[in-house]
Amino acid sequence: MIMLILLFVIFVIYISKIWKRSPTSDFSRIPAVKPRWPLFGNALFFDLTKTHLVLTELSQKYGPVFRIKLYGDEIVVLNDYKSIYTALVANGNEVAGRPSMYRTEHADRNRNSIVWQTYTPKLKMLRKEVHKSLRMFGDGLNSLEDKCLPEVEALIVRIRDTDGHPFDPWDYIYDTTCNVMLLLLLGVRFSYTGDELNRLKEISRLFNHTFGSGSGSRLDMIPWLHILRNQDFSVLKTALNLRNSFWEDKIKDLPRKNDSVVTDLLRLTEDPDLDVTETTVKETFTNLILAGTDTTATAMTCLLLILIHLPEVQDRLQAELDTVVGRERTPCLADRAAMPYLEACLLELLRYISHVPLAVPHSTISDTFIEGQKITADTTIYINLWAMHHDESFWNDPWVFRPERFLDKHGSILPPQHERRRRVLAFGAGRRVCIGEVLAKNRLFLFVSAILQKFRFEAADIPSLPDMDPRTYSLGLVLHPGRFRIKAKRRDS
Ligand code: HEM
Repeated sequence: MIMLILLFVIFVIYISKIWKRSPTSDFSRIPAVKPRWPLFGNALFFDLTKTHLVLTELSQKYGPVFRIKLYGDEIVVLNDYKSIYTALVANGNEVAGRPSMYRTEHADRNRNSIVWQTYTPKLKMLRKEVHKSLRMFGDGLNSLEDKCLPEVEALIVRIRDTDGHPFDPWDYIYDTTCNVMLLLLLGVRFSYTGDELNRLKEISRLFNHTFGSGSGSRLDMIPWLHILRNQDFSVLKTALNLRNSFWEDKIKDLPRKNDSVVTDLLRLTEDPDLDVTETTVKETFTNLILAGTDTTATAMTCLLLILIHLPEVQDRLQAELDTVVGRERTPCLADRAAMPYLEACLLELLRYISHVPLAVPHSTISDTFIEGQKITADTTIYINLWAMHHDESFWNDPWVFRPERFLDKHGSILPPQHERRRRVLAFGAGRRVCIGEVLAKNRLFLFVSAILQKFRFEAADIPSLPDMDPRTYSLGLVLHPGRFRIKAKRRDS
């Protein structure tokens, strides 16, 4: 009997939520994906582990702007440059929100983090403060170089110690990238032999799974699943508990450097006019350490996978490095402008893989118009960067990794205002553009150039090497290729 009453209450809550969240009449001219089932909408036919692929396929049939309904949520999906640019830049103010989601409301992440908070004055202030503390301009870039170079050296030693034997590059790359983030955020680094980096890696894996656009998103669509303690909810709880205990044990009382991001944020907690608490600092730290490590470490790992599949690209990169830098001194940021082929490879990497294929869901904070269609306030918008970066009507052979598409006939990099450069929006654009864009690009340059100067990379075991094609990768918030092993041959021996 109690079970029946409970089920009835859940049913009533569910219906009332669906009813509240379906303002279809306001944008009924936007094509709706069929078939739509009562209560479920399109959910029964939707593979949440491949959301980016499914949406891209649907855009072939329904056009660049369409809507889907997943249980109670009516979601507008934007799939081409024109609609995405309109939403993020031209109408950027109206589309700068984040939808309310069970997963982020659960631990107040929606009110304290950067990634999951809607467009509030507090969010704007936090973004500004983090930008200021990261200092990715002027002298700040010299200081980034100073933080990166010892870590790059340590990475080179670890790779050299493999002595030409097979190794899995993921852990080495993750640890190096994470230590640079820790130096920026706290002014400290963790040892490769302690347990801290492994704990962070596990937290990152769980957050990527649970906060991504994959199966974890079911919790937002059917929030009462948590009452049944389903697997997605358990992963969410485990991820948050691990993060909390890591913060308590390892971060909270760590002696920090004065010029670190966390120290700057903690200073804000002393101002009673700002709604910044220790929870805000913890959430912002979590955003930055996870988003700042996983994305860049994955990008480097994907590039290695591509270079093993395409040795001719590796040849050309190394020839450029030998000419511009030579083999004696370590590459530095000042070399970046003289290395157009490496720059083109990094741009092509960001386009080809589209590491965060669906960005982070946006939401309208007031009524707006996209492609002439009215979209009411409080509508969830998916930004399908993946579809835009592989749009066959613009990109020739979008599934081919071809850095030359970003070079002119003289081998120089295309200017930033060139149509092809403007259509790479791997970091998003506008009000919610990635906070780490400059950091990510400079760090990728420093790491990639340093390891390619020293080593020639080859597959360790060709039959088990994952495909380089990103359509085969698994979807979380970030796309991941399978794990693989490589061999590194020293170029100086
Ligand atoms: C290859 C590296 C990276 C890629 C491809 C990437 C991509 C993205 C994308 C697509 C978004 C969502 C934008 C949107 O919602 O429209 C985002 C947001 C964000 N990224 Fe990155 N990112 C990278 C590196 C970093 C780094 C190094 C940091 C750390 C400083 C970082 C911190 C953030 C934060 C805090 C947000 C949320 C911004 C907001 O909601 O206002 N990312 N990133």
